Amino acid sequence: MPDPEKFYLTTPIYYVNARPHIGHAYTTIVADAVARRKRALGFDTWFLTGTDEHGQKIERSAKAAGIEPQEFTDRVAAEFRGLWDCMGLTYDDFIRTTEPRHKESVQKFFTLLKERGYIYKGSYTGQYCVFDEAYVDVAPGAPCPDCGRPTETISEENYFFKLSAFERKLLEFYEANPEFIRPETRRNEVISFVRSGLKDLSVSRTSIKWGIPVPSDEKHVIYVWLDALSNYITALGYGSNDPSKFEKYWPADLQIIGKEISRFHCVYWPAFLMAAGLPLPKSIVAHGWLLFEESKMSKSRGNIVRAETILEVLGADALRYFLLREIVFGNDGSFSFDALVQRYNSDLANGYGNLASRTLAMIQKYFDGVIPEAAACDVGICQDAPSYIATFGKEFEALNFSKALESLWGLIGNVDGFLTARAPWKAHGDVSENDMRLFRADVLYTAAEAIRIITALVYPVMPDAAAKVWSQLGLGDIKKADLKNLTWGGLKAGTKLGELGPVFPRAEKDAITRMQDIEQQNAKATEATQPTTPEHHTSKLESIVDGLAVAISESTSESSAVAAFTDAIRNDIHAGSQTPPAAAETQTTAVPAPAETSGIAAAAGQAAVSQENAKITIDDFAKVELRVAQIKVAERVPKADKLLRLEVDLGYETRQILAGIAEAYTPESLIGRKVVIVANLAPRKLRGLESNGMIVAASLGDGKPVLAGFLEDIEIGARLK
Ligand code: MSP
Repeated sequence: MPDPEKFYLTTPIYYVNARPHIGHAYTTIVADAVARRKRALGFDTWFLTGTDEHGQKIERSAKAAGIEPQEFTDRVAAEFRGLWDCMGLTYDDFIRTTEPRHKESVQKFFTLLKERGYIYKGSYTGQYCVFDEAYVDVAPGAPCPDCGRPTETISEENYFFKLSAFERKLLEFYEANPEFIRPETRRNEVISFVRSGLKDLSVSRTSIKWGIPVPSDEKHVIYVWLDALSNYITALGYGSNDPSKFEKYWPADLQIIGKEISRFHCVYWPAFLMAAGLPLPKSIVAHGWLLFEESKMSKSRGNIVRAETILEVLGADALRYFLLREIVFGNDGSFSFDALVQRYNSDLANGYGNLASRTLAMIQKYFDGVIPEAAACDVGICQDAPSYIATFGKEFEALNFSKALESLWGLIGNVDGFLTARAPWKAHGDVSENDMRLFRADVLYTAAEAIRIITALVYPVMPDAAAKVWSQLGLGDIKKADLKNLTWGGLKAGTKLGELGPVFPRAEKDAITRMQDIEQQNAKATEATQPTTPEHHTSKLESIVDGLAVAISESTSESSAVAAFTDAIRNDIHAGSQTPPAAAETQTTAVPAPAETSGIAAAAGQAAVSQENAKITIDDFAKVELRVAQIKVAERVPKADKLLRLEVDLGYETRQILAGIAEAYTPESLIGRKVVIVANLAPRKLRGLESNGMIVAASLGDGKPVLAGFLEDIEIGARLK
């Protein structure tokens, strides 16, 4: 027999400065569901997760907690691992970046990149975002363009990675491997980021102690992202005495990440691998964010929900099902206790759970708990089953979990309807007892066999519930079952049912308040035990700064997008130099005053005023991709008076843009209108929503923004030159 095909999948490794919440659980649950299905299909699967434990952020958190970084990371890493175990997540390895196996191997990787001529020494002065652990191209004092938090000026001698050498190679690779970055929106973003030019990357720090020392130059530690990204190979024993796992499983088949870390995974990571002469992962898939109370769930926003709360009240399967069914994978999705309980009751308690209970209870009653022999099956159910199996498989493989489950619940609905229509519990006129028995046998066998198939398919999503139903069907341990071959008739007549019991008891009325109370208690407990330390204040400050960033951006028309645009201009001005602009050169206003911020020309003016002689060339202008787009959807953003959420059609794609124009335009007046957008702006987040581009508008003084438009009709997608 040939060796089974291998499948290696990974999650990001989570920072240990925050305790795990359901945002982290989301990624890990998705990976677990994929791993379980792959195993069920016979793949030799390796599923890796772990924790990212170095860097300034963690160093500071440990200091705030008054303990050594190692002790601090030991505690939080244990929490992550403990929670994953409690949820029954089937990772094969859990890597911690403070483990010797990782550190040694990262040092070898660094040395190899240096030996191959891709790492060299230089000096660097720039703004550093501690939260993102990344240098950012902004003026001193300006906030981070990605997360809006304050940045710090850092000046140091550094090692640099020759990222610029990979611009063309990366673009060629993306072109040749369309599956490498998914979904399409992320792929486009990454491609336009690389196309806009790659600068060499600083890959060491002297200002930080808590990290892996650079081999033979120990005053430097290795940049956290080089350290962290390497986990995907160090965990397999890359560079160790036993590289057998690395040889077997690398390259990864699927790397699942959240969308905010696409640049690190889709640009830096493949460039590091190319530099080392190693194969690249087959596919990196970025999912959207779990939003709670309208913004990304995160510790610093203080809007987290812990998985433990849901486990306590509804169980792990309810959370798994909700996340995979409710959120369209790749998009942002909202979490709420109401929606969770609603799904639980309608799809699980009343849907799958009820179908299994009523069918098995009738087999118990009418056939003494033994699966009856069927003379015929209901054509509608048994003939349709293969197509449900195929659809589920196809959608699941494409990571369309929501669609896969939606389709399967279609089958559940059909079987339920079939049972109700046949009503095997009722007397049917003067049918003889024997005929009645044959009739019931056909109906109940059909339902039970459909349940077997549904259960086998749903196992990767809800392993506990599936295991219960499987054993109630009398089929024993689902972990030992062959779930690959699901042809109709696999359930053998004569099988004795296992012990029956409820699978998804209906959620009690107070389920929502119970969960809310647990979260509140937990928040209070955390607050009470939180030391009054700089870290504590930092978190509070971070929230205030978050709020401010949103408020400022709403007080202007697209001011944050304008800030990104001025950043882009500054980058262009300094293109070619390895260091970002020095302080004296960059006293531009990162968040321009409202009067000057409503359009692209104003932004260019800003840069021009503050950058003496900094007229841009036609080539600089050509880098700004201005295009005609048509507004298809326009709606207000809750609790944001000035912001509208727009969906605009560019002819070749539709995208979401947030625009601070709500005071000047009603949403209805915008539908169908053709506008000019800056199409190649890096995405920004406002109120937890992603803005992909900027609408061009003009304004004077305190005047309201006026959208740019055309007198003649113009095709959507057309470029302005
Ligand atoms: N340590 C880096 C990743 C290094 S990978 C080599 C990091 N860690 S993190 O703790 O911030 O976790 C980021 C990941 O956690 C996201 O990419 C995503 O997978 C998951 N999520 C954290 N919060 C989330 C939401 N609110 N919603 C969805 N996923 C979330 O970045």
